[in-house]
Amino acid sequence: MPDPSIEPLPLARARDAFMRPERGMYLDFAAHSLRLHAVHRAAQTALDAATRPWDASWDAWAAQAERVRLQAALLFDGDPNGVAFVPSAAYGLALAARALPLEADEAVLVLDDAFPSNLLPWQQRCGEAGARLVAVRRGADATAAVLEPIEHEPALRTAALEHTHWHDGGRLDLDLIANACHARGIALVLDLSQSLGAVPAEIARWRPAFAVSVGYKWLLGAHGLCVLWASPHWREHASPIEAHWSAHCAREDWSFDAAADNALRPGARRFDAGEIVDVPRLSVAEAALTQLHAWGVDAIAARLGALTARLREQVVDSFDMPDVGAPHFVGLRPRHAALDACVLALRADGIVCTARHGVLRIAPHLHIDEADIDRVASVLRAAR
Ligand SMILES: Cc1ncc(COP(=O)(O)O)c(C=O)c1O
Repeated sequence: MPDPSIEPLPLARARDAFMRPERGMYLDFAAHSLRLHAVHRAAQTALDAATRPWDASWDAWAAQAERVRLQAALLFDGDPNGVAFVPSAAYGLALAARALPLEADEAVLVLDDAFPSNLLPWQQRCGEAGARLVAVRRGADATAAVLEPIEHEPALRTAALEHTHWHDGGRLDLDLIANACHARGIALVLDLSQSLGAVPAEIARWRPAFAVSVGYKWLLGAHGLCVLWASPHWREHASPIEAHWSAHCAREDWSFDAAADNALRPGARRFDAGEIVDVPRLSVAEAALTQLHAWGVDAIAARLGALTARLREQVVDSFDMPDVGAPHFVGLRPRHAALDACVLALRADGIVCTARHGVLRIAPHLHIDEADIDRVASVLRAAR
């Protein structure tokens, strides 16, 4: 049961749920979500409570951690045993990289423009094992580009991918890719930081070994509490990065055995990182996930898909964009105008988005409506 003091707003009032700028328009959820009022209240309450450590309850903290674990698990396979709390996507991906078998001369597939948290841990692991990275250029058909080495590179042991690409919202067909990986015994690891919470994660179909997401984007939370999901096999067989006490079972008197191994906690709880499972972070995540589940990921995907489709339609004559795109954000590459001119025009209108790698990344959420999208489109069409 979620905390009953968190009152989520219905979809019809979603615009009011966010702390919005007084003027202008925030279209940068792929960088950082706007804060929900409910999240802010929960954070303030938790910080106030931290001034009264004499009232703190171990049982209440443990129960809250399990509530949030279940809320997070509902975004994957529904099993709280599969979820660990980690401080960064890179931490979760490093844990996956250390767990998955890799021998000298074997290979790991990544995208050549992957977010660095899904590149550097694999580079490090390959260096340590004497293995190599196969870095794929996405090109015009990213799914085909990824399938090519999966089908033709016999040394490949792991494919580490994003569902939705952080540059431009380009989407991989993970149904096809997962089938190809599983047919060849290649482990699939997913960085869902740019999709979890905005697009359903089809865990039963994709069967990844591990999947990770940050909390501060489409999960509507804050920095410092990311979720790592491990498959039923790996949640029992991988090793935690730290041997932190919170990931181990203590004896009844809360002592640990110096003469024998101390048992790890069941499932992916053994990967919980030290100290991050604290009340302020849990409270933020709980409020955020309560609102997210009240809206529903399918409904969020449908609404954001309608908004980005409206934008795509209006600017398709002057901007290139991925053919196979995510519903929740879109990268626009100006065909005629200079990127800087577009940025200046948007900024003059108080519109905030990321411009990087030659692309304007337009990432709205439920605080945006059709009139907002039409305004963005008209500013972009007028930019020279
Ligand atoms: C695809 C993707 N993965 C991961 C991250 C963040 O990773 P980390 O938590 O390791 O900083 C981002 C942030 O923008 C991202 O876009």
